[in-house]
Amino acid sequence: MSLEKYRDATDWTFGLNHVTTLLGHVGGRKILDIGVGSARYAQQLANQGAAVVGTDRTQSYLERWQQGPIHYVCADGASCLAQESADSVVATFSLCEMPQDVMAQTAVDVALSLKQGGSFVLCEPHPDSPGYEFYSNHRELHGPKREGTPVTVRLRGTAHTFHDYWHAESTYREVLRDAGLTVTALREPMWQSAGGIWQAEREQPPYLLLRAEKR
Ligand SMILES: C[S@@+](CC[C@H](N)C(=O)[O-])C[C@H]1O[C@@H](n2cnc3c(N)ncnc32)[C@H](O)[C@@H]1O
Repeated sequence: MSLEKYRDATDWTFGLNHVTTLLGHVGGRKILDIGVGSARYAQQLANQGAAVVGTDRTQSYLERWQQGPIHYVCADGASCLAQESADSVVATFSLCEMPQDVMAQTAVDVALSLKQGGSFVLCEPHPDSPGYEFYSNHRELHGPKREGTPVTVRLRGTAHTFHDYWHAESTYREVLRDAGLTVTALREPMWQSAGGIWQAEREQPPYLLLRAEKR
């Protein structure tokens, strides 16, 4: 398997597969994917029969996805859906690219767009992940573990770096609670076996997953 495929497998093993478990059955449901990016996760939702709306602030994704099964909207956060129209909302590795005020507004918009009983599942870099050499990425914190501290992210095997923000678990919980959502699940998947390519993943969960519901 190529390095790129192992990187992707790492994201699925410790993150995206658990999003699927937390979401439950998606066939026939309307799901909003915030920060849809290359749509690697949205595509899976569409394959399982969900009606997917993807938002991203990056305009260049618009042309790529408007031909496919995903309804793409170029928008900041989650402000594009009619009230109470989504069964579920997902955000995979996208809230970390938002400063806290944008994340808080996004959570409010998510709560408005969710139907009663609907859930918001998020998958984010674990707050304790900076400094570890994970198979998929290395995160370096530029300053103390404080809300909004910039983080440099390097994808393994590439010179490619980008920046996002450090958020505490308590901040995720706070913005969800302030938006009127109730946290009902938390996951911190790790590698449990000896051997294999995942060494750092045996010591530290790379990702943090939360599910919050609109009750
Ligand atoms: C690291 S990528 C993750 C993409 C995809 N969710 C995945 O798991 O592969 C983060 C994405 O979030 C988008 N993003 C960041 N801030 C955003 C915002 N305020 N509103 C919408 N999209 C945003 C970026 O443009 C980027 O495509």
